[in-house]
Amino acid sequence: MEQTLPYRWYSDPDVLQRELELIFAPAWQYVGHTGQAPEPGTFFAARCGRTPVVVTRARDGELRAFLNVCRHRGFPLAEGAGRRETLQCPYHAWTYGLDGSLRSAPRSEELADFDRCTLGLVRLALDSWGPFVFVNASPDPEPLSDALGSMPAQVAELGLDVDDLVFYTRWEAELEANWKVVCENFLECYHCSVAHPQLAELLDVSVDAYALSTDGRLSSQHGPTRESPRTRMHLDGELPRSQFHFLWPNLGVNIFPGRPNISIGPMVPIAPGRTYRFLDYFFGADVDQAWIDELMAFDDQVGAEDRVLVEGVQRGLASGGLEHGYLMGRSEQLIGHFQALTRDALEGQPQPR
Ligand code: FES
Ligand SMILES: [Fe+2]
Repeated sequence: MEQTLPYRWYSDPDVLQRELELIFAPAWQYVGHTGQAPEPGTFFAARCGRTPVVVTRARDGELRAFLNVCRHRGFPLAEGAGRRETLQCPYHAWTYGLDGSLRSAPRSEELADFDRCTLGLVRLALDSWGPFVFVNASPDPEPLSDALGSMPAQVAELGLDVDDLVFYTRWEAELEANWKVVCENFLECYHCSVAHPQLAELLDVSVDAYALSTDGRLSSQHGPTRESPRTRMHLDGELPRSQFHFLWPNLGVNIFPGRPNISIGPMVPIAPGRTYRFLDYFFGADVDQAWIDELMAFDDQVGAEDRVLVEGVQRGLASGGLEHGYLMGRSEQLIGHFQALTRDALEGQPQPR
């Protein structure tokens, strides 16, 4: 039987530090959506993993990302979202254009060697997939399309056009669990019939029907709907089945059967035993409110069930009583894939395409 990663890796601050450097620093991260900076003169603050970023749309219409840290003495520059031509630091009022250039700094004329041109905000790589905005804070990132792999094609093949979706809401939570516990919970449905009775009524989660596949850094779960679902959810609509994607290291994407819908968001480590999550929900423009309410209530229920599971696992792993656990063959093959990618990265191996 395959063994899990050592349990020590789920509570050791040194392991988290190595993960941040070797796994998160080079990774593209979902930060938000184009609707948050819809027109010239708008911006929103976000985080790329643990890096604070600000996404702006300057007068030229281009979407850009910058490190959200003032070049003067490091105060975070932007908060929330807004509509304005410049970003002014609340500490000493250095003022930057939405193109990142430093426009003014009080008393800078007193310094002969003050070079405004070299003190603009630090630019980060930004790219998007439909309305979904991704940022990469490393100096020389791979193209976003390489990182996304076959996910956009799989979503399109299901019949979902991401460009037609409208942002609905953001759900946020902090969980008392290591980020890997949260990801691993996402990566298997071995627990679904035990822990998510409503989900198991909606989808056929049996080992033969519920298809698991990997492709590079992407893990996918394709669940057919049940023939005669007893669930209260109404499944008829454009999308014939569910797709749950996980893009290593930490992005989850959920599509439920029925009307056009998707939710997307990262699992971000904030401490060895603590993870921040958000999920942005999008629906087709003409999906009725009643269907949206059904899906949100259903997903809330599943999320509450998963919180109990991951927080329980964290207590077990951190107890120190066991050195590792076991993976259940094909049912947990995606966890095996996740753990191999994680282990390889921590050992400095190149990442697969
Ligand atoms: S830290 Fe931003 S102006 Fe001083
Ligand atoms: Fe679950």
